[in-house]
Amino acid sequence: LNKRIGVLMGGLSSEREISIKSGMAVLKALNEKGYDAIPIDVGRNIAKELKEKHIDVAFLTLHGRYGEDGAIQGMLEMMGIPYTGSGVLSSVITMDKIITKIVLLYHNLPTPKFQVIENGEFSSINIRFPVIVKPSREGSTIGVNIARNHDELVSAYKDAKNYDKRILIEEYIEGKEITLGIIDGNVLPVIEIVPKSGFYNYKSKYTPGMTEYVIPANIGEDIEGIVKNIGLKAYRILYCSGAVRVDFILSKDNIPYILEVNSIPGMTETSLLPKSAKHAGIDFNELVEMMLKGASLKR
Ligand SMILES: Nc1ncnc2c1ncn2[C@@H]1O[C@H](COP(=O)(O)OP(=O)(O)O)[C@@H](O)[C@H]1O
Ligand SMILES: [Mg+2]
Repeated sequence: LNKRIGVLMGGLSSEREISIKSGMAVLKALNEKGYDAIPIDVGRNIAKELKEKHIDVAFLTLHGRYGEDGAIQGMLEMMGIPYTGSGVLSSVITMDKIITKIVLLYHNLPTPKFQVIENGEFSSINIRFPVIVKPSREGSTIGVNIARNHDELVSAYKDAKNYDKRILIEEYIEGKEITLGIIDGNVLPVIEIVPKSGFYNYKSKYTPGMTEYVIPANIGEDIEGIVKNIGLKAYRILYCSGAVRVDFILSKDNIPYILEVNSIPGMTETSLLPKSAKHAGIDFNELVEMMLKGASLKR
């Protein structure tokens, strides 16, 4: 309780605004619990700032590049400052959807069929329309588009290219969107996500009222068990620690396809992981304290 905690937020990614919201919510929770916690906006001089402010533990509420991708984790390992969440390798892998899918496939976990496109070689694509086009390393549905024909594919690819040089084309899975929170290797209730617009994009994610959430998901006990099993397996094989969230589409024939694993899930009070924790009887402040207690060096 006498350690000084830096809540690292903001950062250099396109999810900066969301990260600040997560960070401020976590900061409030830590202060309410009586911890000496201060906000730190992560910029290029972060190492110096951590030293000057005498930070003993880093609570990471960063999303996207430099924050969720192993960069800051590597720096903290070097500096010997314990941090929340997953370690370097896990962060690197889970930030990169292509590499994540390769690891999932190696372990026979379901993930939509995909192809990697680097230089607009559209003629080599042998996945049927509609397809989903996404940058390999982004979040919040930024740069993610559905394409129903060749023209849409070309413009979706162009959009994705604004965010990453590595682009994946995925089979579009029709079904229910669900997500599974995991904390310290324990699963939380599955959430079913019903965006009113039909597409769970940036707007649907962050505009109150644009999306309906069903907890626990209306998928039946058997399927819920399978989803939790698959999610936990993904957590283990991707070397995750602390709190993560696994995003799925449950197809019409009840196959839970993993879309991605988020190593630093959103942490506003209305974000998915806190919602799910609350349903399991863990209130927001308690959840934040659990995450803090898992802070460590991981190498
Ligand atoms: N293969 C797919 N089939 C159907 N919908 C998809 C597929 N991939 C992504 N989506 C939709 O796009 C959203 C964002 O995709 P996701 O892979 O979770 O990336 P991120 O959340 O990191 O931007 C998902 O929540 C889902 O609504
Ligand atoms: Mg997602």
